[in-house]
Amino acid sequence: MFLKKLSLINYKNFSSENFEFDNKINCFVGQNGIGKTNVLDAIYHLSFGKSYFNPIATQNIKHGEDFFVIEGNFEKNDREEKIVCSLKKGAKKIIKKNSKAYDKLSDHIGFLPLVIISPSDRDLITEGSDTRRKFIDGVISQSDKGYLQTLLKYNKILSQRNSLLKYFTANQTFDKTTLSVYNEQLDGYGTEIFNKRVAFLETFIPIFKEQYKVISGDSENISLVYDSKLLNDSLLNLFDKNIDKDRALQYTSVGIHKDDLNFNLGEYPIKKFGSQGQQKSFLIALKLAQFHFIKAQANTNPILLLDDIFDKLDENRVSHIISLVNDENFGQLFISDTHADRTEAVIKTIHQSYKMFKLGS
Ligand SMILES: Nc1ncnc2c1ncn2[C@@H]1O[C@H](COP(=O)(O)OP(=O)(O)OP(=O)(O)O)[C@@H](O)[C@H]1O
Ligand SMILES: [Mg+2]
Repeated sequence: MFLKKLSLINYKNFSSENFEFDNKINCFVGQNGIGKTNVLDAIYHLSFGKSYFNPIATQNIKHGEDFFVIEGNFEKNDREEKIVCSLKKGAKKIIKKNSKAYDKLSDHIGFLPLVIISPSDRDLITEGSDTRRKFIDGVISQSDKGYLQTLLKYNKILSQRNSLLKYFTANQTFDKTTLSVYNEQLDGYGTEIFNKRVAFLETFIPIFKEQYKVISGDSENISLVYDSKLLNDSLLNLFDKNIDKDRALQYTSVGIHKDDLNFNLGEYPIKKFGSQGQQKSFLIALKLAQFHFIKAQANTNPILLLDDIFDKLDENRVSHIISLVNDENFGQLFISDTHADRTEAVIKTIHQSYKMFKLGS
């Protein structure tokens, strides 16, 4: 699968811009703030229906304008697929595949498998558990349509249960029957999510370890461990055990919405004890593992976006990653960097077709 053409209207700093891409490697170069990452984000948008960087949809519209349009022409399994993602202020976002709008944006997820590696991935190590849940959820939902639907249903009931807990406090009342209706539903959806997360990690963790070894040339004792209360107890039991706490907090303190992934080096968290380089290798391994996992599930090469490649990697590691493109293993690659020369020097070494886009000139 690859992206042949991209056109942007009023997307972030671009008023109107058209690109025609190489099937293999495309590099965006230019000075800081010129829009390199924005182009990668537009491509991400076509795959996931949202920005990787700015979750507030309207902030992706160019300042002073009231809509954006991103259009991509893909070739997938020898078929042309035109995807258009557009947003007008005050209206819902629309994604169209071959001129037909999706009823639900979530139905589009997984159609264009894609992995992004960016400096902001460090949030996965430094930030709270929600970033890591989003990561797992994102990977699983690219290959499992039902997963995202179940998760959305779980979240909807969860917020109803939280409202009920608030209502109990506000009205100094308690109604066990109504609460248990929500508990039952959450137990159903939550257990399904939990089982899928367990099954996913069983496959994913070995791939991750292998990638870490390849990148760091090292078999340091790294681990990635699923952390969930559901590993030891059923969700219904957990709700019962935590009812006093939940009533005091006025929200649901246990469930799959509290799951986490622990990243360790030996016995210690990589966040506190890993060196910068170890953390970078860890993140790249995580993303390359995502790439291989999605590839196996989708049976096609995902598009790979490498934002600011030299931020995370020294030249050896960049060469290593770029050389992977030489294999049949990788599909289309988009790279951004401030220095045209150093990028082109690395790309040239692998004798693949490539195209350089010098932004701002
Ligand atoms: N909604 C928006 N409207 C107009 N401009 C925007 C909008 N959102 C972001 N920008 C602009 O986009 C530019 C940043 O673009 P981008 O992050 O793609 O730069 P870059 O080329 O990747 O730079 P760097 O090399 O520093 O990573 C900034 O100048 C910012 O002001
Ligand atoms: Mg950038």
